[in-house]
Amino acid sequence: MPSERPFKLLHSALRMDEALEKLQEAQEDLEKTRTKLQKQEKQITELVTKALGEKAVASNSLLVSTRHKFRSLQQTLNGFQRSFEDRLKTLRVRLDGFEDLLRSHNSSEAALEVERSTQCQMAAALQKTLQSLIDERVRALPDEDHESSFVLPEESHGYIPHPLDGFVRQLITVDQMLTHDPDFFAPSEPYRPVSFLEIGCATGRNLLITKLSGLLHAKAHAGFDLDVNLVRRGQQALGLQDELFVADALTFDYAPYDVIFSYRPIRVPEIQRQLEERMVETLRPGAYVIAPLAEDLACYPDMDCLNGPLAIWKKRKPAID
Ligand SMILES: C[S@@+](CC[C@H](N)C(=O)[O-])C[C@H]1O[C@@H](n2cnc3c(N)ncnc32)[C@H](O)[C@@H]1O
Repeated sequence: MPSERPFKLLHSALRMDEALEKLQEAQEDLEKTRTKLQKQEKQITELVTKALGEKAVASNSLLVSTRHKFRSLQQTLNGFQRSFEDRLKTLRVRLDGFEDLLRSHNSSEAALEVERSTQCQMAAALQKTLQSLIDERVRALPDEDHESSFVLPEESHGYIPHPLDGFVRQLITVDQMLTHDPDFFAPSEPYRPVSFLEIGCATGRNLLITKLSGLLHAKAHAGFDLDVNLVRRGQQALGLQDELFVADALTFDYAPYDVIFSYRPIRVPEIQRQLEERMVETLRPGAYVIAPLAEDLACYPDMDCLNGPLAIWKKRKPAID
């Protein structure tokens, strides 16, 4: 999110610039008034000299008192001008300070932008490497003669991997939420270790990352898929024998899990709704669900959406009277 600070700084600098301009205009007006006064004094002296003669001028009390007033006005104007000049100087110094601040802010924003883009490139490179390594391991398995002739039901989605960076972001966000969630409080731990489940996990790429990265403070990782061949491959290629199993999301019992990831296993909306109904029904209160492209989770009064763009939900605990 872009920071508001440069705009605030710019706004203050612009206001100072305006004040400076007004002060300069006031100073110019002052200068004009002073010139006008001097001119008028000269004209009056000339007129009186013409009318009364050189000698009378020196002793004319009206002229003397007018001159006196002119002088004192001039002095007041000089005082104003000095104070204007002082203020102008102060304002200029402040404006310079603001401009320095703005420059340094802009350069640190630029450095941050470079850092951000480097981090994005780094993440993309690591993601590509990881995905290739996992794909290679799965592909390297010998072709199994006894691979099942399993056919996924029409209504299901086949294996479409969720973007890896999005998945990692979702895990990090849930991890941060759990750290502040009193339902998961544990003394001297970030939060009590959770059990993680992925619905329709295919060969278990996401499960492997969750397990190896330690991004979630978890005590148990599990994942299931309806496709027996994907599950077998994941068990063998990724060493997830104990974590992967075959099950149907539409009849599964979700009660034992604290954090569930489900990336739209079902293509047909009506059947996906059935899956969500089953999940919400059996889910334990307080559990988290990360469900990108869910169909209907927003319709359940028990499900609180904690982060819309990242599709993070939590099943509400019943209120204690
Ligand atoms: C869109 S892919 C998601 C893959 C993985 N979860 C990810 O996010 O990278 C959907 C997966 O759900 C599985 N699936 C479809 N219907 C299912 C069902 N009824 N029960 C369990 N898994 C199912 C498919 O075999 C497929 O692997």
